[in-house]
Amino acid sequence: MDKLIRMEKIHKEFVVYERLEGKWSLLKGAFIRTKKKVEALKEMSFSINRGELVGFIGPNGAGKSTTVKIMSGILNPDSGSCVIDGRIPWKNRIEHVSRIGVVFGQRSQLWWDVPVKDSFSLLKDIYNIPNSSYEERLYELLERLQIRDLLNTPARQLSLGQRMRCEIAAALLHRPQILFLDEPTIGLDAVSKLELRTFLKEENEKSGVTVFMTTHDMDDIEAVCNRVMVIGRGTLLFDGSLSDLRAHFGSQEKEDIDDVIVRMYHDLKLLT
Ligand SMILES: Nc1ncnc2c1ncn2[C@@H]1O[C@H](COP(=O)(O)OP(=O)(O)OP(=O)(O)O)[C@@H](O)[C@H]1O
Ligand SMILES: [Mg+2]
Repeated sequence: MDKLIRMEKIHKEFVVYERLEGKWSLLKGAFIRTKKKVEALKEMSFSINRGELVGFIGPNGAGKSTTVKIMSGILNPDSGSCVIDGRIPWKNRIEHVSRIGVVFGQRSQLWWDVPVKDSFSLLKDIYNIPNSSYEERLYELLERLQIRDLLNTPARQLSLGQRMRCEIAAALLHRPQILFLDEPTIGLDAVSKLELRTFLKEENEKSGVTVFMTTHDMDDIEAVCNRVMVIGRGTLLFDGSLSDLRAHFGSQEKEDIDDVIVRMYHDLKLLT
């Protein structure tokens, strides 16, 4: 099998400064700061084949976004190796970003004050997309994501669902081989979620794009992914199909998937 992504023993710590408590804490804090290390990822290893649709789940603070940021070259780890399509994301950044698309549900990648079509044109220049290829891809994405009517609107005036469709188009204009999505369905209404899931499945079938998606909505995983990885406190705890996960942690057939997840987090002692 063609291993497109290889993560080996990736370790990432953050240093945070804690506030002192009690009387005079504000004043004392100006002179004394207590340092605390947060181990966001602990020797995380996994590999992903070309064309896979992977769902990455885990409780808040588990290390999902940190993993996405490392794989997309935004953060560099303290140790370990990560090779994606033969490149190290944070070292070969320019070549790497031309092969990936990234969407953060909580943060916009579009230029806030300019019409969406201008953001797309800027991306065309940044990625050096030839005219004919750009026109063809843009037309396809406008139709499939139904965003033609939004082109003249600045990103800041879009609703969340409208913006997310534009974000997905922006991330796919340069036909990346890999799409990293960090909570792409957060805050979307039921119809928008269904449409986005269908789009991602179709895009994977049409172009073979590899999808790595974090989410707290298990319906995203059921609808889109053929593999699910569970992370807790920076460690990979499960890697398999959703039916394997059910078989492992479910108590009865057809149990609601959210109940299975709660039991799993409980069994793995991830809930404090
Ligand atoms: N820039 C940062 N500075 C300090 N600590 C950080 C930073 N980014 C993440 N962390 C810490 O690293 C840990 C993992 O955070 P991360 O954002 O990867 O979690 P997550 O799984 O994406 O959670 P969520 O489901 O809430 O989005 C948390 O304890 C978080 O507080
Ligand atoms: Mg996150």
